[in-house]
Amino acid sequence: ETKITIAIDGYSSTGKSTVAKQLAQKLGYVYVDTGAMYRAVTLFMMRKLFVSATTLNSEAIVRHLPFISVKFVFNPKKGFGEIYLNGENVEKEIRYMEVSEQVSKVASIPEVRKLLVQQQKEMGKDKGVVMDGRDIGTVVFPNAELKLFMTASTETRAQRRYDELIQRGDKVSFEEVLKNVKERDYLDTTRDDSPLIMAKDALEIDNSNLTLEEQFGRILKIAEDKI
Ligand code: C5P
Repeated sequence: ETKITIAIDGYSSTGKSTVAKQLAQKLGYVYVDTGAMYRAVTLFMMRKLFVSATTLNSEAIVRHLPFISVKFVFNPKKGFGEIYLNGENVEKEIRYMEVSEQVSKVASIPEVRKLLVQQQKEMGKDKGVVMDGRDIGTVVFPNAELKLFMTASTETRAQRRYDELIQRGDKVSFEEVLKNVKERDYLDTTRDDSPLIMAKDALEIDNSNLTLEEQFGRILKIAEDKI
């Protein structure tokens, strides 16, 4: 059986990581959440440089890049890798709203992208990987055998993200989450370096009206046809 590379891109909160994890588990592939890598770098900069809406200092961020190590460590209880920033498990902290509010700005810095893309290519060099993000099918693995582009209406996505955060016990309002989803969509699609765009050979999946089971069933079939 040949191993393939599966690239999953799309807007924020389209359920990319859910389906990517399901696929990886079913196929015995490695799952890589590239958004977590951008979030971990952002968290580091927030702690070190007090990055905030008004004080994004690209030069200082670039100067600090050599001091960052971002790694995934497999957690057998969860069945996927958790992200570590300089040896500290930051899986939970990187999902806080504060980080969500800064990450797209940090992710627009070319040096940050260059560093993380290089690591992502390395992680996927032996194939057998499901990677999700914004530029996987266009920049990281332009030759991926299977490329999916996930979409859903803005309100559907904000509602899903809101439910997720509330369930975790975070204190957020729906309006705040909706605003953040829209803001990240805007920044991610309009940045100069590797903007979010559907690869020409990607398959678009609008899951606004699909249950998780329906979605997984469809995508698994598409993947199995490629293997
Ligand atoms: O996937 P997630 O929503 O956690 O990603 C957080 C942010 O990281 C995105 O809004 C985007 O700004 C950035 N990102 C990126 N390229 C990727 C993955 C994430 O620019 N491949």
